[in-house]
Amino acid sequence: MIHELILRNCVLLGSSEQVDIVISDAVVVAIEPKTTAKGKLELDCLGAFVSPPFVESHIHLDSVFTAGEPYFNKSGTLFEGIEIWKQRKKLLTYEDVQKRALRALQVMAEHGVLFVRTHVDVTEYNLLALTALLDLREQVKNWMTLQVVAFPQDGIFSKSEHLPLLKEAMKQGVDVIGGIPHYELTREDGVRSIQTVFDLAEQYGTLIDIHCDEIDDEQSRFVETIVAEAIKRGNGSQVTASHTTAFASYNDAYADKLMGFLQRTNINFVANPLINITLQGRMDSYPKRRGVTRVKELIEHGQNLSLGQDCIADPWYRLGTGSMLDVAYMIVHVSQMTGQKELESCFEMITHNGAKTLAVEHYGITVGQKADMIVLNASDPIEAISKRLMPRYVISNGALIAQTIPASTHFESNKLSNP
Ligand code: FE2
Repeated sequence: MIHELILRNCVLLGSSEQVDIVISDAVVVAIEPKTTAKGKLELDCLGAFVSPPFVESHIHLDSVFTAGEPYFNKSGTLFEGIEIWKQRKKLLTYEDVQKRALRALQVMAEHGVLFVRTHVDVTEYNLLALTALLDLREQVKNWMTLQVVAFPQDGIFSKSEHLPLLKEAMKQGVDVIGGIPHYELTREDGVRSIQTVFDLAEQYGTLIDIHCDEIDDEQSRFVETIVAEAIKRGNGSQVTASHTTAFASYNDAYADKLMGFLQRTNINFVANPLINITLQGRMDSYPKRRGVTRVKELIEHGQNLSLGQDCIADPWYRLGTGSMLDVAYMIVHVSQMTGQKELESCFEMITHNGAKTLAVEHYGITVGQKADMIVLNASDPIEAISKRLMPRYVISNGALIAQTIPASTHFESNKLSNP
């Protein structure tokens, strides 16, 4: 029998032994040293590290690749970004959103990302971006798993139209419901918005992912409300608190109490270090806060924490490559995750932890599992983060969908020799 694809001479996480991975009908059918099986396509991985695909836990695909439209953010601040976005979003069309979002998904796929959770603003009266992304979810499903979050960006209770729009978005079949309690007009509205999100999630059977406490205000304490709801309803594994940057500003006594409450449930956290290291702390003089949640402590306390890019080339962030290795590299630095185990945990944040946040059912490289994997230009996770190279091969649904030949540098020996 000739199999579809064989990856030869691979190294899997936790092993130094080289194995071959045999794939048929989009499923891993064997993992063994020096297989005698034959494949229609055989790729020699030359001892490279093979990983499950990267998981992008938090991005806004409705605004990607709009930087400079109508003008670039001169101050680089959140508030100027909001002003620019107000103007740009008047020009959104179905085709515009789909074209930019597809480009972002393709860029991410070539960087080894095959699972993506996108938030989409549903406080716009026509829900046009939502429709475009729900349709795109179907169009890309053979090579990319896309989750869509109904995100009431301007608050659920800040305008009377917003709650009906959110309910309409739920009816259209989103995967996840979002919220933004710290941006509601009052703390009471913020608490009410979280309860509404939990109620709608139960009614429509979706996951929950709330933009929570993305502010430098140490009094912003909506994580506790999310945790309380999750404890009462017993659905913590289906709940995510994104950003939670104020957690880094809480006094240690309160933070310690909150960590204790977290032990009573198992909600997920998402940090977006590329964005929050640049947007937070803007009103501080010095010392200037880093603006990223308590990553090290959450990991030490056994909480599930994964990572997102949040933005690619939009009014808030001009940069962005689509690479989750860039995000992992940033969290290593911002959160001082430089111990051996901590470095390894940063790779987990963009793989297994992300899969847990997104509640991906079939994830990992084992016999009988759907064949989604990436061959990295590295020998282990830490080298992968250090070098941040694009994967050599990307396999989705058992098929090779992207390959990148590493650049090679030729030295002119006479120019490098000692005088
Ligand atoms: Fe976000």
